[in-house]
Amino acid sequence: GLPARVRIHEVGPRDGLQNESAIVPVEVKAEFIGRLAAAGLTTVEATSFVHPKWVPQLADAEELYPRLDGLSGVRLPVLVPNARGLERALALGAREVAVFASATESFAHANLNRTVDGALEMFEPVVARAKREGLRVRGYLSMCFGDPWEGPVPVDQVVRVCRALAGMGCDELSLGDTIGVATPGHVHALLAALRTAGLPAAGPSAAGPTLAVHFHDTYGQALSNTLAALQNGVATVDASAGGLGGCPYAKSATGNLATEDLVWMLNGLGIETGVDLAALSATSHWMAERLGRPSPSRTVRALAGT
Ligand code: HMG
Ligand code: MG
Repeated sequence: GLPARVRIHEVGPRDGLQNESAIVPVEVKAEFIGRLAAAGLTTVEATSFVHPKWVPQLADAEELYPRLDGLSGVRLPVLVPNARGLERALALGAREVAVFASATESFAHANLNRTVDGALEMFEPVVARAKREGLRVRGYLSMCFGDPWEGPVPVDQVVRVCRALAGMGCDELSLGDTIGVATPGHVHALLAALRTAGLPAAGPSAAGPTLAVHFHDTYGQALSNTLAALQNGVATVDASAGGLGGCPYAKSATGNLATEDLVWMLNGLGIETGVDLAALSATSHWMAERLGRPSPSRTVRALAGT
């Protein structure tokens, strides 16, 4: 059956904004995150502590993060690629971090300037240190379905990297369809293969990471893919307010699944999220005005009556 409750991992301020070429003022980012939290989102991925030349939009992480101090009861994870990124996050008091691996060599090179295994070696001490500091650690895995340079990605290749991230001690794995090419049959097949490999662990002594899904909506399949994942027991779903997003290092990556589209579907299924859809949609509308173009989310547009 389907889960009674889904935790939405909101990625708009990070995955959504990282692809915007015009720099969004830090006060606007802080207000965006505050409004998302006020709309009932309990996890809002705030920013990345990556090299500022690689993602100029998020170069203001040191300025932004302290502005979020007043938000209580909200998890504010941040991306850290390496030891330097973790140091920056720890210095600001971050309690939750994410490393981001790739299932393909092409994207590992484009996104991290490393091989797949070279990136895993870079993450291992980062995850270990973060765990020692008592932080929650998410392991993203990109290109779980298709890669713009390599085409369809074999399921075994994904399972291997998931196992490595699980072995490091990640609390959660987020399966990324970075370029939005997945379809529900592929989602069923990947989750079945992961189950065979013991992910997530089942039974009374279950230990190890939970699974989350991270769909981009390039081919309009993100919601169908999400439903397929829910049918496989996944209860954490990544989404981006208003459908903002893309990845600067993956050609043809468009926005993430829009959080409003997700909430509309989950509301209809009677699955709890704690999100106030009207407040969320108004936030995306406000953000779209700041960015100067309408939200691509069908639900945001329908609710605004446009
Ligand atoms: P590199 O060039 O190999 O870096 O990049 P390096 O380790 O050789 O270091 C070079 C210089 O960068 C050094 O400075 C370091 O100190 C500095 P120098 O000694 O030359 O003066 N440096 C840093 N500075 C600030 N913060 C840091 C940092 N690290 C090194 N953290 C690196 C390697 C990982 C740094 C680079 O490739 C990078 O920053 N990549 C980030 C790319 C990124 O953020 N991509 C988007 C997020 S992933 C995504 O969107 C997918 C996801 O949504 C899921 C999905 O959809 O699939 C998560
Ligand atoms: Mg993404």
